[in-house]
Amino acid sequence: MTRRSIGIIVNGVTGRMGYRQHLVRSLLALREQGGLELGDGTRIWPEPILVGRDETRLRAVAERHGLTDWTTDLAAALARDDAEIYFDAQVTQQREKAIRQAIDAGKHIYTEKPLAESSAAAWELVRAADAAGIRTGVVQDKLFLPGLRKLKRLIDGGFFGRILSVRGEFGYWVFEGDWQPAQRPSWNYRAEDGGGIVMDMFPHWQYVLEELFAPVRAVTCVAATHVPQRVDEAGRPYPATADDAAYGIFELDGGIVAALNSSWATRVHRDELVEFHVDGTEGSAVAGLRRCRVQHRAVTPKPVWNPDLPATEDFRAQWTEMPDNEEFDNGFKVQWEAFLRHVVTGSPFTWDFLAGARGVQLAELGLRSAREGRRVEVPELSR
Ligand SMILES: NC(=O)c1ccc[n+]([C@@H]2O[C@H](COP(=O)([O-])OP(=O)(O)OC[C@H]3O[C@@H](n4cnc5c(N)ncnc54)[C@H](O)[C@@H]3O)[C@@H](O)[C@H]2O)c1
Repeated sequence: MTRRSIGIIVNGVTGRMGYRQHLVRSLLALREQGGLELGDGTRIWPEPILVGRDETRLRAVAERHGLTDWTTDLAAALARDDAEIYFDAQVTQQREKAIRQAIDAGKHIYTEKPLAESSAAAWELVRAADAAGIRTGVVQDKLFLPGLRKLKRLIDGGFFGRILSVRGEFGYWVFEGDWQPAQRPSWNYRAEDGGGIVMDMFPHWQYVLEELFAPVRAVTCVAATHVPQRVDEAGRPYPATADDAAYGIFELDGGIVAALNSSWATRVHRDELVEFHVDGTEGSAVAGLRRCRVQHRAVTPKPVWNPDLPATEDFRAQWTEMPDNEEFDNGFKVQWEAFLRHVVTGSPFTWDFLAGARGVQLAELGLRSAREGRRVEVPELSR
């Protein structure tokens, strides 16, 4: 067995996503399993190079995991020959500049979404990466959620017949930060710092809709800032200038209608933090993060509208739970594995910068729809 070490610059490693999902649950988890087997006797061994702004916090992360390679100097990390991949989990606003530096340094690049803050900037990154001949990837973790994998299984198996519509609910109550600390960083609620739920969630909805159902051809969006004032990490009140809820209607190629609500100002009365309800001519399904329940045409009950009588049927009990039938690994790790294989062996990887740019485009057009109060068509983005 040969070990193939690969230096990975992890920028933004002190953040929520950078630390938990990418460093601990993906790269270190890969080391714990002995590396990533390629099937030819080689194992890819990730060597994280931690990059951040705050020396104390970086050192603390490194020491907690027995790592020694860290720096606050991104340029110096990018100048190293053993660093083959640049990964970015910084706040969105810092991403474009750092990715440009990484492209100039000739690194392969993997990044959190959104790829950039505007379509124009995202497209420029696509072109620059193409010109540099590097390999690129953008995180599309929702595709690897067990619930959505089961949904995909249903679609591939023809369960739905003709798919008619998708209704999605995503969200939970994010505390304002006064009497209980907020559970998301405050930059999410400031437009001037790259926050907002449309920019955060529409990139996810774009790839979920396109990969499972069909490409989005038009978007109609109402965005709201329901909670206008919040309190930041230092206990200072600040005006919330970014949208904290988005009510979107997405018209898909072939006529499927998807209505997806995203909100940080709603209290959960669902089984999971995100749920997609899909109706088809032959059957329906409700998929969440982990679970997926189905109801086939043959067993669909026939409710009759009568508000004078209390409900006599237990509607939820009329659905069947789908079995796992496989073991589901952490979605971030599964995508990391695919990207590492892509970099080392050239195996196909479709979630590249262009795919990421499509997500940014949908968010931008969603915001335009909200601002102008109208339906906006989504032009095809291709090379
Ligand atoms: N894939 C997903 O499901 C998912 C979920 C949440 C966030 N994200 C994305 O991940 C990225 C990071 O989000 P997060 O929730 O981890 O944020 P976070 O605030 O917890 O972490 C941000 C990181 O960026 C660093 N940073 C660099 N420059 C900064 C600056 N000028 N101001 C503030 N921080 C700076 C911070 O030190 C920290 O390491 C965002 O782009 C976000 O869109 C993705």
